[in-house]
Amino acid sequence: MYIKIIKLDTVDSTNNYASRIALLNAKEITVVYANSQSCGKGRMGRTWMSAAGKGIYVSFVLRPQNNLREINYLPLISALAVAKFLENVLDLMQKEHKKNKDETKTKIKIKLPNDIIINDKKIAGILVEAKTIGKKPSFVIVGIGINVNSLKEELPERATSLLLETGQKYDTEKVFPKLIKEMVSVYADFKKGKINSLLREVLNFKAAGSVEEIAEVFNNKKKTGEVVHFV
Ligand code: BTN
Repeated sequence: MYIKIIKLDTVDSTNNYASRIALLNAKEITVVYANSQSCGKGRMGRTWMSAAGKGIYVSFVLRPQNNLREINYLPLISALAVAKFLENVLDLMQKEHKKNKDETKTKIKIKLPNDIIINDKKIAGILVEAKTIGKKPSFVIVGIGINVNSLKEELPERATSLLLETGQKYDTEKVFPKLIKEMVSVYADFKKGKINSLLREVLNFKAAGSVEEIAEVFNNKKKTGEVVHFV
């Protein structure tokens, strides 16, 4: 599979950069990673704190051929990749520091439509932007922000970071390839149309009681807001 990684020191927003190169025909999967963003974007016009060394800021240029109903699930399926990535990083940390799971009490949850929560606080967010041609997307940008080394005073209320939850600092560049691996793996299943099996995996992170319940929430824009932003 083709994977190209572009590493930037600083950029306005990795999503904006990814959109610009997608318009210039960048292939899937192109990954844009930045140490910091000057205008990190959150969902619904919010901003995303993006200081250097404090988090992972990354966007994926994808060109799925799935229909728009399935594309709407891409933010949630990307949240699954992030949840699996975090689980992996935490497991590794626990092994390195010989801690047991009860000691660290880190429970990763996915909150619909696509937030990743640890101990009731948001640790990561996803912003999906798509451009369509007719009823098919021309490209989709999946932007992921993960709070890694941020301190309490650097975050909004009800947000957390890996540092705050585990007391450890992490090298963002060193752990980030594991996120690419998880994302590539869920995306391969998504492209094959294995949506239901991915949604069942989402249930392992307590997002809902059943796949039907997820579908119900996703069919109700009042409950989710805009999950994919069409540009
Ligand atoms: C949210 O509001 O929860 C979504 C936050 C998404 C932030 C990420 S950071 C990398 C990518 N580039 C951006 O400008 N936003 C996303």
